[in-house]
Amino acid sequence: MATSTMVVAAGSCLGARVAAAAAPAPAPAVGLPGLRFAANSERERKRKPNILKLESQFVPAFNVSIRRRGQGLSTRGLRSAGVRSAASDPEQLRAAREDVKKLLAEKKCHPILIRLGWHDAGSYDKNIAEFPRRGGANGSLRFSPELGHGANAGLINAVKLLEPVKAKYAGITYADLFQLASATAIEELGGPKIPMRYGRVDTKSPEECAIEGNLPDAGPPNPADHLRKVFYRMGLNDREIVALSGAHTVGRSRPERSGWGKKETKYTTGANIGAPGGQSWTAEWLKFDNSYFRDIKAQSDEDLLVLPTDKVLAEDPEFKKFTDKYAEDQNAFFADYALAHAKLSELGSKFDPEEGIFIDQEAPPKKEPVVEKFVAAKYSSGDRQSELSDSMKAKMRAEYLAVGGSPDRPLGSNYFLNIIIVIAVLAVLASFATQS
Ligand code: HEM
Repeated sequence: MATSTMVVAAGSCLGARVAAAAAPAPAPAVGLPGLRFAANSERERKRKPNILKLESQFVPAFNVSIRRRGQGLSTRGLRSAGVRSAASDPEQLRAAREDVKKLLAEKKCHPILIRLGWHDAGSYDKNIAEFPRRGGANGSLRFSPELGHGANAGLINAVKLLEPVKAKYAGITYADLFQLASATAIEELGGPKIPMRYGRVDTKSPEECAIEGNLPDAGPPNPADHLRKVFYRMGLNDREIVALSGAHTVGRSRPERSGWGKKETKYTTGANIGAPGGQSWTAEWLKFDNSYFRDIKAQSDEDLLVLPTDKVLAEDPEFKKFTDKYAEDQNAFFADYALAHAKLSELGSKFDPEEGIFIDQEAPPKKEPVVEKFVAAKYSSGDRQSELSDSMKAKMRAEYLAVGGSPDRPLGSNYFLNIIIVIAVLAVLASFATQS
């Protein structure tokens, strides 16, 4: 069996305990079958402390990706296809979706594929403009350095599940495939239709991986502050944080991966659930509905998981507003979830073509910029003041005041100014009349 060496950074976040436990170990398998951590050479360790070597004995694409640094698989596939300039091919995306549906039906792997899409996108930092340094949905999670982040423990299995689909459709990028699989999984579990856009460009090499530490931690000292810090950095708001957390209505947590949850519960054993074990957030964890919100409010079943970051959604006043609403109204949850998920799936992505590729619906019409009528008074005060320089604002206010008008009211309701204008016009007309 071919074996290649991959470099994996050990670090913190969701699976920190697992990664930390693995860090100093020279060889034994940790967590995943087929993976072996080994210490770097002395020279490498000095150059990059906290870096481990990871030996893979499976995932063929990994080995190719690692051997051909700087030449991602998908790029190679696209070049060989040689017919398009777009990142992904719409026909292949549709065909791949059918294959993903079959995979889901066979393996019941919906939750881990949803998590894969989320963790590829969730590294995004809105404060960095440059692609792919800004992170986000760019397929970088297929590379070993990012898969080795503590938060991504276990996701190598998701990449591995998708490899046959990727190999069959060379005209699709990894970034698109990860998001396609995630959205399809939600829909197949009875969730809302996600208004997806495709055409994401892939990162090309492991050097372009996201930095570690951008994904949320499940047990931070102040969960509300932590969630806001992490999700606001992605450009998401409170409503979106709560809606997206609702994805925990499906899936399980496994202590051997993230360090959270029970080894198994009455809900995670039995037939037709994929690999058994772990602790789910809901009883029917292969069904996408709003039960997560009812369960985190009730917290009445020891077999159901409530992470500190789930609990706070039912406690923090701003988060609670949405949690209460979604617990009562599944349609409201689905509507918000679909939009938030589509937004999440595009974080940090670069699209080719720029407007994206739509495989279910026509591309939305391009919005013509609305040219707003200039109302001086709107700029003299209020929110829009920031659009003008201080000297310009002062000048405009002075001009209003000089003619007796109010700079704080738009012209239509600036009655005093209107009267002055009418009098001035009448005076001009009268002077014309006397001259003739
Ligand atoms: C709000 C912050 C979040 C935290 C702290 C968090 C944390 C976690 C943890 C600890 C696990 C268990 C992983 C394991 O042991 O295998 C997990 C699983 C999962 N997460 Fe999250 N998560 C968050 C947000 C999200 C979001 C936004 C989504 C999707 C939109 C999501 C989707 C999932 C899914 C589907 C699973 C189940 C995976 C499986 O069954 O293999 N999570 N999450």
